[in-house]
Amino acid sequence: MKIITSLPDLRAARLSMQGAVGFVPTMGFLHEGHLTLIRRAKAECNHVIVSIFVNPTQFGANEDLSKYPRDLERDLNLISALEADAVWTPTNEIMYPKGFQTWVEVDAITRPLEGAMRPTHFKGVTTIVAKLFNAVQPQRAYFGQKDAQQAAVIRQMTRDLNFPIEIIVCPTVRETDGLAMSSRNKYLTGEERAAATILFRALSAAKDLYEGGERNAEKLRIKMREILASEPRAQVQYVSCADYDSLEELDVIQGKTLLSMAVMLGKTRLIDNFVLG
Ligand code: PAJ
Repeated sequence: MKIITSLPDLRAARLSMQGAVGFVPTMGFLHEGHLTLIRRAKAECNHVIVSIFVNPTQFGANEDLSKYPRDLERDLNLISALEADAVWTPTNEIMYPKGFQTWVEVDAITRPLEGAMRPTHFKGVTTIVAKLFNAVQPQRAYFGQKDAQQAAVIRQMTRDLNFPIEIIVCPTVRETDGLAMSSRNKYLTGEERAAATILFRALSAAKDLYEGGERNAEKLRIKMREILASEPRAQVQYVSCADYDSLEELDVIQGKTLLSMAVMLGKTRLIDNFVLG
């Protein structure tokens, strides 16, 4: 497996690859969620490139950039065991050269949910993912359903900018008690970790209502809020029942629907979602 930093080295490695190249962008500190994306890319493509870059521009001023967890050596061992062809670990200087002033922004779909809570977040995500796509030039790129709005925003950007890349969204990988895997779970104290299953329980309760025939979106939002309110440690930021593609809040559920939520447990911000229909 090639471990690459510079852009010329990445381009040379890319040029040597024949057939379909699958790309898995990450910020490192890999867990089973990331590894599932790499395995899927490996199964579907002739070559796999993984990037590790903690992208400063997608963190808000009061967010956790400086303490974002990092363990490059462990990450490289995990990726190597899955037999990816190359790992690209660019530096800040490569991705944001001195005097950088070009941004990629996506409109309406970045405004609600995560965008409302983190107003500069998606501008950072779309800019870095566009730059990674330009550099890697994959045929397919793999993202997790865990970050549902991110996946929707990337699909939109890929269509709008005519990137010849197929966006593949893979199911959320969970701990045995239902908690969605996330690099941020390691910040949870023992008690917060136990309480964190409340997100999965709230989503499951709303899904049960849906499967029982309920199509009033507000009833599902109320159910999720009710369950979340039963956990005193959980501070709800938003609860949503929205159209899967546009992310607009629904009155009546028809077609593919996204149930999603953001909840603070102490100082840790957790997000989770289910797809209905
Ligand atoms: P990161 O948080 O490292 O996640 C990398 C990819 O792993 C994303 O597509 C994310 O949705 C996916 N992922 C995370 N947890 C998952 C889980 N439990 N199950 C399935 N997939 C999961 O997302 C980012 O990095 C960045 O925003 C990035 C796209 C790399 C741009 O900087």
